[in-house]
Amino acid sequence: MFKKLATGAAFALALIPAASFAAGGAGHIEDYDFSFEGPFGTYDRNQLQRGLQVYTEVCAACHGLKLVPIRTLSDEDGPNMPEDQVRAYAADNFTVYDPELDEDRPAKPVDHFPENNNAGAPDLSMMAKARAGFHGPYGLGLNQLFKGMGGAEYIASLLAGYTGETKQEAGTTFYENTAFPGGWISMAPPLSDEQVEYADGHPNDVESMSKDVAAFLMWTAEPKMMARKQAGFVGVLFLTVLSVLLYLTNKKLWAPVKGKD
Ligand code: HEC
Repeated sequence: MFKKLATGAAFALALIPAASFAAGGAGHIEDYDFSFEGPFGTYDRNQLQRGLQVYTEVCAACHGLKLVPIRTLSDEDGPNMPEDQVRAYAADNFTVYDPELDEDRPAKPVDHFPENNNAGAPDLSMMAKARAGFHGPYGLGLNQLFKGMGGAEYIASLLAGYTGETKQEAGTTFYENTAFPGGWISMAPPLSDEQVEYADGHPNDVESMSKDVAAFLMWTAEPKMMARKQAGFVGVLFLTVLSVLLYLTNKKLWAPVKGKD
């Protein structure tokens, strides 16, 4: 009896990876380790700054970040850049239209990153939360419970997932990509090895740059993640202490009735 049950369970478990792959219809998502994962994970400030550099030098040509105020680059839980550096960054990289002056002027920290939909590229402000890397099995969400939503993993896998194959369809070029659902994306491979020079000497192969910009986009989508985790931890701690106190109170109140003292 027990043996039968065990075989059944093993069989069901063996089905899970296959089923989750089929059910999502999605491509292959690499389960990268990010510093911000887990209940106590935090953003890696240096990684966010490298990711910002990749975004600015490469992705900003097509993609906007219109929901992100430039001043948040100095957030302590985020890239934590000094304020004068943020001011210089804004002025050096972006111009915005000022309705009062009726002309373009260099961006300031109070401005948002510009909007940009070049070639139909979607805004990336919330992309890390709009996409899930992991699905299933059977719509149970167990993979997300254990691995997280996987938005950052999806973006990193997408950028590093080009096979080099292309095809033409209705006048558009599509690029084969192992992470993109359906396998063909109209975004040309944006990164190539050593494209961005990091000041901190960090490796700048395609995969490293992909992970850095994916971490940066996780931060733009959820800048308050650290505060949220802290509040959650304090909440759990509080409820634990409360449970112990209530247990002891209950014991004490019922002691005379139960004939103990
Ligand atoms: C030459 C323009 C261009 C550049 C540069 C570019 N992209 Fe894209 N990107 C696009 C277009 C166009 C799409 C829409 C593709 C589609 O839906 O087929 C897209 C789509 C995306 C998507 C959404 C994929 C999805 O699941 O729908 C992500 C994420 C993304 N790009 C990230 C980046 C990052 C990060 C960079 C910088 C490393 C970058 N892109 C650089 C043009 C660009």
